[in-house]
Amino acid sequence: MATNRGTFGRMGFVLAAAGSAVGLGNIWKFPYITYENGGGSFVLIYLAAVALIGAPIMFSEVLIGRHTQLSPVGAFKKLGGNAWKPVGWLSIVGGSVILSYYAVIAGWTVYYVGQCLSWSFGGFTAEDAEGVGASFTTFLANGPLQIGFAALFMGATIGILMMGVRTGIERVTKLLMPILSGLLLLLVVNSIWSPGFGEAMRFLFHVGPISAGNVLEAVGHAFFTLSLGMGAMLTYGSYIGREQSIPRSAAAVCILDTVMGMSACVVMFSIIFSVPAAERAGTFAKSSTILFTTLPRIFYDLPLGALLAPLFYLLVAMAALTSTISLLEVVVSYFIDVRGWQRKKAALVAGGAIFLLGVPAALSLGASPTLSSFGSSFGRGGVFDTLDYLASNWLLPIGGLLIAVFTGWVLDRKMTLAELEHGHGPFPLFGVWRFLVRFVCPIAILWITWAVIGGRSFA
Ligand code: TRP
Repeated sequence: MATNRGTFGRMGFVLAAAGSAVGLGNIWKFPYITYENGGGSFVLIYLAAVALIGAPIMFSEVLIGRHTQLSPVGAFKKLGGNAWKPVGWLSIVGGSVILSYYAVIAGWTVYYVGQCLSWSFGGFTAEDAEGVGASFTTFLANGPLQIGFAALFMGATIGILMMGVRTGIERVTKLLMPILSGLLLLLVVNSIWSPGFGEAMRFLFHVGPISAGNVLEAVGHAFFTLSLGMGAMLTYGSYIGREQSIPRSAAAVCILDTVMGMSACVVMFSIIFSVPAAERAGTFAKSSTILFTTLPRIFYDLPLGALLAPLFYLLVAMAALTSTISLLEVVVSYFIDVRGWQRKKAALVAGGAIFLLGVPAALSLGASPTLSSFGSSFGRGGVFDTLDYLASNWLLPIGGLLIAVFTGWVLDRKMTLAELEHGHGPFPLFGVWRFLVRFVCPIAILWITWAVIGGRSFA
């Protein structure tokens, strides 16, 4: 059965998994939640969350995937029997839910590449600057455009998955990841000369008081940004050959993701802090939309802005594409492994269905009043918001908890040790990893879930 699944070549896993991890979470979400949570201290806790909770669970997911060479549903069934099969189902649900609204935001980035190109060539006027915020709102409320761009993005994702693991996923991520890193590096270097650089660095690295809310948000984000808790890393792990080292590969992915997120912050904050503090309050939109409202107008004030703006949105679109690929692959691999479908059929059917699931989300940003207020009874603002809330606050942490408990308490200690050492050599940190997975991760996640029940949101 495993023969028609496909495998990654050398470096294929690291690049594809880093492609999955680095996405809108790094470039859109991380900077704005860092901004909202006050900078330095939040960054510090986030780094700790990645090291103490994210990395151990990443090891676990990859380990389960490589050991079974199966996608989540099959993998949990094989190792844990029918009792653990629902954890696999949770991955399918989680992947579908996240992808349905993620594709909508990803669509915006494509629209902004076009928008910026037209500004760069046609000139960005004072009226344009005034109108960016309003035109974004109009764009969100335009149903056909929202659906159209999401469809475009989903189409690209489906197309790549139809090409296969090595010739589709691996080839595209091998092409896009170096371009993405190069572009981001270029933007980081460019920001060193921007007037806001000094203040951006102070904001990112000063350490101030830490609140419980910061900790909760940082842990939730660690899951999202590392693509953990719903079997994406497990699925990619199932395509790795047995001769490759799990600890080295997984650690490389965590480090790459963190470096990219931090770089995105340096770029964004250098731009944001180029605006004098006194004017900032009037200039800034709601922080979650800074990327699409405030940023374009500041870009066009910067030297070389007309060149950098379209490049920047292209970068965000590429980052999003390598993430949507991994989200859809979780669902596609289920149909291939468990249902025995051909990859092409699986990609078309799963991608098409998830796209349809996303239509209400796409229409819930102003196009349809009913959908836009759905969920307002429990403090959400529409279908889109509700899905994001469900996914980041419930599905991912619960998925992560179950994966940690499964690897730490259900799987045989010897088996996990053998899997981590196979292709790696002696793994002296095994005891530390096992302690984190058995105790630290479950306790930390239970605490978050309890806090969510208590009413805090991490969206
Ligand atoms: N990690 C991606 C980002 O930061 C999003 C993502 C891709 C994801 N696959 C995932 C999130 C699986 C959770 C689970 O944008």
